[in-house]
Amino acid sequence: MEGPGGPLILGIETSCDETAAALVTDEGEIRSSVVSSQAELHARYGGVVPEVASRRHLELVTPVIREALAEANASLEDVDRVAVTRGPGLIGALLVGLAAAKAVAWSRRLPLVPVDHLDGHVASLYLEPDPLEPPFLCLLASGGHTMLLDVRSYTERELLGSTLDDAAGEAFDKGARLLGLGYPGGREIDRLAGEGDASAYDFPVARVPGLDFSFSGLKTALLYAVRDLGEEELDARRADLAASFQHAIVRALVERVREAATQAGRDRIAIVGGVAANSALRAALPEATAAPLALCTDNAAMIASAARWTEAVPYPRYLALDAYASR
Ligand code: KG4
Ligand code: ZN
Repeated sequence: MEGPGGPLILGIETSCDETAAALVTDEGEIRSSVVSSQAELHARYGGVVPEVASRRHLELVTPVIREALAEANASLEDVDRVAVTRGPGLIGALLVGLAAAKAVAWSRRLPLVPVDHLDGHVASLYLEPDPLEPPFLCLLASGGHTMLLDVRSYTERELLGSTLDDAAGEAFDKGARLLGLGYPGGREIDRLAGEGDASAYDFPVARVPGLDFSFSGLKTALLYAVRDLGEEELDARRADLAASFQHAIVRALVERVREAATQAGRDRIAIVGGVAANSALRAALPEATAAPLALCTDNAAMIASAARWTEAVPYPRYLALDAYASR
């Protein structure tokens, strides 16, 4: 069998409920990307339980790293630096990945690259086979963040707008819960919306000044709509509700990202993060570059990718490095 050739970056991501490891080259070629989702484990609670997530990461992180190495037909000898998500995210979950990364790097006297999770999402666009080059206007929409970023270069970006309350993915997840759908909710709403009529309900989205977002009113509107229906009626209207709710979120995102692109003078738009996997959003922004589906939701290839533009901490200085829950 062929060897991996050239040095590899080992990426590790454990900020939420995905335990992930990947091997990526300096040129941005993905040699392997393993994602072990804990979604089923958390589904019975209707959301991520931080303590449960940390424990599961601890069980999974070593096997997932091993699998990533095996899939790339590589060993630790082929790795020249270890990249890991340092934050933002669930602090206990982050600490598991950070400790694993330190241990692997330290054992081989390798440098360690602490990566910001949000830089990781943006860097999902820089991977082969179709890497995007800055500058561009980027919508980062995930379970924890909704941001409009003017990405000027690989290392410079400006925040133009963000959510004042719920993140877009959080709105999807809360909406799904109101509709009695499973967790994680975004994908469920996306699927069910395909069978519904998006114009059945006219859900409003708050217009806030500037380039910010607000989704909490929309959630309340859905709550009222659901409350007014009986059990049987809800069953009959669930797909219409999902489609209309999704339509409202997508409309808000699309309007604002286009406004931001005009204001920043960018002719290219990109969408990243879990919500960028949404089929209605992708269809509503045909001019945008969307990260490949597998790279929208949390993964470690994007973390290794971001490490290509992030300063490495030399051995053994990183042993004292801490994780951060928020910025
Ligand atoms: O980026 P991500 O995996 O994790 C965070 O950094 O938060 O994003 C997860 C979020 C969840 O809220 C999930 O419901 C949402 O992305 N999501 C979707 C879809 N797939 C995942 N939302 C809408 N449509 C989808 N197809
Ligand atoms: Zn994420």
